[in-house]
Amino acid sequence: MRVITGIKQPFAGEAVAPADKSVTHRALLLAAEADGTSLIRNPSRSADCQASVDCLRALGVRIRPHHGHLRVDGLGLGRLRAPAGVLYAANSGTTMRLLAGILARQPFDSILDGDASLRRRPMERVAQPLNVLGARVSTTGGFPPVHIAGRPLCGGLVMLRTPSAQVKSAVLLAGLGAASPTCCRVPVISRDHTERLFFRLGLPLKVNDLELRVRPIDRIPPFEMQIPGDPSGAAFLAGAAAVIPGATVRIRRVGLNPTRTLFFCYLERMGAEIAWSPDASDPWEPGGTLTVRGADLRGVRIDPADVPLLIDELPLLAALAALARGETTVRGAAELRVKESDRIAAMAAGLRRLGAGVEEHLDGFSIEGVSPLHGTDVDAAGDHRVAMALAVAALAAVGITRIRGAESAAVSYPGFFDVLDRLTTGSSPHRGETI
Ligand code: S3P
Repeated sequence: MRVITGIKQPFAGEAVAPADKSVTHRALLLAAEADGTSLIRNPSRSADCQASVDCLRALGVRIRPHHGHLRVDGLGLGRLRAPAGVLYAANSGTTMRLLAGILARQPFDSILDGDASLRRRPMERVAQPLNVLGARVSTTGGFPPVHIAGRPLCGGLVMLRTPSAQVKSAVLLAGLGAASPTCCRVPVISRDHTERLFFRLGLPLKVNDLELRVRPIDRIPPFEMQIPGDPSGAAFLAGAAAVIPGATVRIRRVGLNPTRTLFFCYLERMGAEIAWSPDASDPWEPGGTLTVRGADLRGVRIDPADVPLLIDELPLLAALAALARGETTVRGAAELRVKESDRIAAMAAGLRRLGAGVEEHLDGFSIEGVSPLHGTDVDAAGDHRVAMALAVAALAAVGITRIRGAESAAVSYPGFFDVLDRLTTGSSPHRGETI
């Protein structure tokens, strides 16, 4: 439970973006199969990435904290060790789906399971394409537990129907250790961190618009890399400033990979002012500082073609829409129903309780903004992004909002509520977390 008091005065503050969860998962998984020790600087301390660390440790990989970074002693490609029990991915869909691609080609059987929320999430989307490559991956009626009979993969052509970076990544990771090349055709562009990491490491990947080809390799070189800031985490801080006219927040070290930043363009369209200052720190994963200034927001029509690149920010956009003048409509976003919670239902319920007019569609929502919202008790539905999105709406509401299940924010952004407190009231110091 977390209590948010609506604020009346604009605030001005600065924060560092939390480390990127998507990039951390990928770095951990590639380092686990590298030939030697890799150093992952500034890893995400999220519960989701901890699930990847725990699963890899159960597969024999030594992972040690090192001055706030992580040292990973890779075992070599295809040389993970048979786990003693079921691999537990907790709440993390990324752990389960990406790891499935790696486990499919190991010389042992494994079982992946997760918490009650992950057990409700669809897994055939990853099992089927891996099976096209010669894997034997089976789900439990479409859901976890996922059973994997490890065997050599043959490679081949996979046509994906799901617009999912997780599934694309599972196929690419599987293809690295197949007998012949793998071609993966995707329906749309999605976040491309796996591709960028392959290029950084010199792995043989060719990308031609919606077609990706990976050739098998013998070894992954060990590497050192700095994890960029998470634009999806930074989005909540940007949102907090955006809903208070005149408030500003300067967010440093935000990942500015173009497959992750569309939310900030929509935020500008809604009326917030954003100053973008890219830096040149990493040629593979661009980053920089964003300074966001709040304004009276207006509703926006979200192009369904943009949904895959906005998917994690749609709960936050719903919260902003509840405070904006006019209507905001999102369609083509049925994927939201199979995330950590049914995010359409969870956001509709929370925002209605705060006073907004929300119409639910099977594949999205229409929201009529209301000013002011009124603080009350709301429920995060155990979902980190719902918890943080409702907190942003609550900041601009009159009175006090109690968010049940707010501790779920640690799934992607540990310390979020402390950072929010510090920014908006200057009261609570930001506490670091440990992995
Ligand atoms: C992720 C991909 C997205 C996103 C998730 C992280 C990733 O999921 O929602 O938070 O790291 O690849 P889908 O691939 O299911 O769209």
